[in-house]
Amino acid sequence: MYLSRFLSIHALWVTVSSVMQPYPLVWGHYDLCKTQIYTEEGKVWDYMACQPESTDMTKYLKVKLDPPDITCGDPPETFCAMGNPYMCNNECDASTPELAHPPELMFDFEGRHPSTFWQSATWKEYPKPLQVNITLSWSKTIELTDNIVITFESGRPDQMILEKSLDYGRTWQPYQYYATDCLDAFHMDPKSVKDLSQHTVLEIICTEEYSTGYTTNSKIIHFEIKDRFAFFAGPRLRNMASLYGQLDTTKKLRDFFTVTDLRIRLLRPAVGEIFVDELHLARYFYAISDIKVRGRCKCNLHATVCVYDNSKLTCECEHNTTGPDCGKCKKNYQGRPWSPGSYLPIPKGTANTCIPSISSIGNPPKFNRIWPNISSLEVSNPKQANVCDNELLHCQNGGTCHNNVRCLCPAAYTGILCEKLRCEEAGSCGSDSGQGAPPQGSPALLLLTTLLGTASPLVF
Ligand SMILES: *[C@@H]1O[C@H](CO)[C@@H](O)[C@H](O)[C@H]1NC(C)=O
Ligand SMILES: *[C@@H]1O[C@H](CO)[C@@H](O)[C@H](O)[C@H]1NC(C)=O
Ligand SMILES: *[C@@H]1O[C@H](CO)[C@@H](O)[C@H](O)[C@H]1NC(C)=O
Repeated sequence: MYLSRFLSIHALWVTVSSVMQPYPLVWGHYDLCKTQIYTEEGKVWDYMACQPESTDMTKYLKVKLDPPDITCGDPPETFCAMGNPYMCNNECDASTPELAHPPELMFDFEGRHPSTFWQSATWKEYPKPLQVNITLSWSKTIELTDNIVITFESGRPDQMILEKSLDYGRTWQPYQYYATDCLDAFHMDPKSVKDLSQHTVLEIICTEEYSTGYTTNSKIIHFEIKDRFAFFAGPRLRNMASLYGQLDTTKKLRDFFTVTDLRIRLLRPAVGEIFVDELHLARYFYAISDIKVRGRCKCNLHATVCVYDNSKLTCECEHNTTGPDCGKCKKNYQGRPWSPGSYLPIPKGTANTCIPSISSIGNPPKFNRIWPNISSLEVSNPKQANVCDNELLHCQNGGTCHNNVRCLCPAAYTGILCEKLRCEEAGSCGSDSGQGAPPQGSPALLLLTTLLGTASPLVF
């Protein structure tokens, strides 16, 4: 149904900017992975950090309810009107489309009247708790860019936990607790996001802000992403550079806004009074008309396009990276350890492209002995794979190893380990050496420029 839907390109932080107009353009958009530039050597590609645009992520999720038969209407049952507990002749019937309230209705188009919503069975088994887990799964890491907003059609629950997973549902962490009485429900002091600061932004809080029952008109629960961004970017999110700088350097912060799954744990429906009215248990149930989740595919700043194909999101990786999140270097491009792109320096960031492996450019046999297995090293332990060191990966011909990431070669030599004569590369050996030598440049750059002809065009 959403075959080959492209989430790509252009506006970044769309929601943020549309809400926060007018919006300065001084910070980067990161909407291009490369551009052609002109240098002394002609046209070459310039690579930049890039990411998909922020979009409505509810189109790409799978929803699962626990218990699975908790949706109302099978068998049909009556419930009390929202907001009018003494009109208890409404009917939910799963087999009649007009009276059914299946989970899909949490994600359909809003703005219809009356609104469409998912509804649970009523609390007829009171005092056994009425609890429902709603699990939203993307099978892909995504980065949240705007508040999660849940709109209840009934009263907001008395107790609820929003949880997240970063490992496709294997482990779960609480994201936020919601209760009419935090101390009573979760033994936590009530807090609001506004009580947090830059230093406590990752604290998991219990909030009472969104839990008043039946009586008020308010139907919405937020998980406040933008308020948390604001600790770094300022109240109107003007200083995005500062936020990006923090996201770049603090993995914990980045991970905080990253999820593969979300789970809404409804623990106790809105009661609205101190006591549960046991004579009218059909008053108590959960009903949700809308869930908003905005974010983008996490592509480690190596892609602007995220494709939805076969019910699966995948980054279309650039910079010679590969994997669902562009989390590793392509085969034959493992000339240095993979690393994510960087937002810095603003506005274009740093692409940190993968560079060709030594073995892919035809080395002399001698060379293979020295560097036999760099690719397997990198795959198994990317953090520790060195380009050069003083044990196995010696720089040759008098080159010196600089920070384990490159060899500084004597003028006459080039190549990643200074294994090549410069004149060989220029095809001028035998003639007066020096004259045919190419201009000084990093070996990686020289290698790259030889490969540029085959770059694929950008998809817009
Ligand atoms: C909901 O999920 C939690 C784990 O996150 C689990 O402990 C609990 O039993 C589940 N509740 C239901 C009703 O399935
Ligand atoms: C990646 O490799 C291709 C050849 O397969 C090359 O054309 C392209 O320029 C490379 N891109 C980067 C960023 O290195
Ligand atoms: C490279 O490493 C892999 C696993 O780490 C090993 O199986 C393989 O034999 C190694 N190859 C060479 C040439 O040493």
